[in-house]
Amino acid sequence: MALTEPKAGVQRLFNRLSGPYARVVFSRLQRETQADVAWVHPRAGEKVLDLACGPGTLALELVGYGCRVYAVDLAEQMIARAQVARRRRRCPPVHFAVADVEQLPLPGDVFDLVACAFSFADFPAPVQAVAEMCRVTRRGGRRAVLEAVAPEDPAQSAELDRLERLRSAGVSAHLLSLTELTALFRQASLELLDAKVSERKRRLEDWLGAAVGEGGVPAQRRLQRHLRVKLLETARGDAAGLHIERHRGHWFFSAKVAQLLWRKP
Ligand SMILES: C[S@@+](CC[C@H](N)C(=O)[O-])C[C@H]1O[C@@H](n2cnc3c(N)ncnc32)[C@H](O)[C@@H]1O
Repeated sequence: MALTEPKAGVQRLFNRLSGPYARVVFSRLQRETQADVAWVHPRAGEKVLDLACGPGTLALELVGYGCRVYAVDLAEQMIARAQVARRRRRCPPVHFAVADVEQLPLPGDVFDLVACAFSFADFPAPVQAVAEMCRVTRRGGRRAVLEAVAPEDPAQSAELDRLERLRSAGVSAHLLSLTELTALFRQASLELLDAKVSERKRRLEDWLGAAVGEGGVPAQRRLQRHLRVKLLETARGDAAGLHIERHRGHWFFSAKVAQLLWRKP
């Protein structure tokens, strides 16, 4: 797949991050993922697509419900991790493929459920991603979106984007607010079935562990130290809306996560 920037940058970033990302997802976030997938009410036999699947986060839960699962991601290392995790967990087969969400190599009107989690900030053209999600969903099918959303306050949102860009060597695009995310799907004339927003505690060290800088391990450590200082600075006055706090010897921040379930009429 020939990619131009910034997508090639996103692919490089997630190929590098696949290891640490998979470790966090399959250890600390496993229960959360199970609850998120249960909320969608997957049914046995449904044909389901997990978009930007990462290491198989949703896909490996969905297949446990007896769904026929397809899952795509831009980063081949993420797909490789997903295949290994599927074998380790002895899950039924999943159709994994390397593909771009904004140009899916899939026929239209075929999926009963299309899910996408924690990825919209990395799509350079989110409108195109939504259009593709719509195209491949069958009439009456569901669209599930799980996303960390930015604060509605523009100054806090800009500060959060700045921190994310520092962490990802400038690759990360723009974390959408709930208003922006909802507007994207409303434009696609979908019917909203369910929506909720929750505050989820995340460990600062996990967020820092996914920092990617130019150079080897020493440069990486320097970047992590720098980011840690920057993040703790934002705690004063809550400049990025992260509600940073210390609890039992660890720093935590609060991610606001939106769960949106849509139906294609
Ligand atoms: C933060 S991870 C989320 C992974 C997974 N959905 C989860 O919930 O753990 C973002 C994922 O989006 C993928 N991604 C970013 N842009 C993409 C695109 N245009 N097409 C397909 N995957 C993409 C990345 O490779 C990465 O695996």
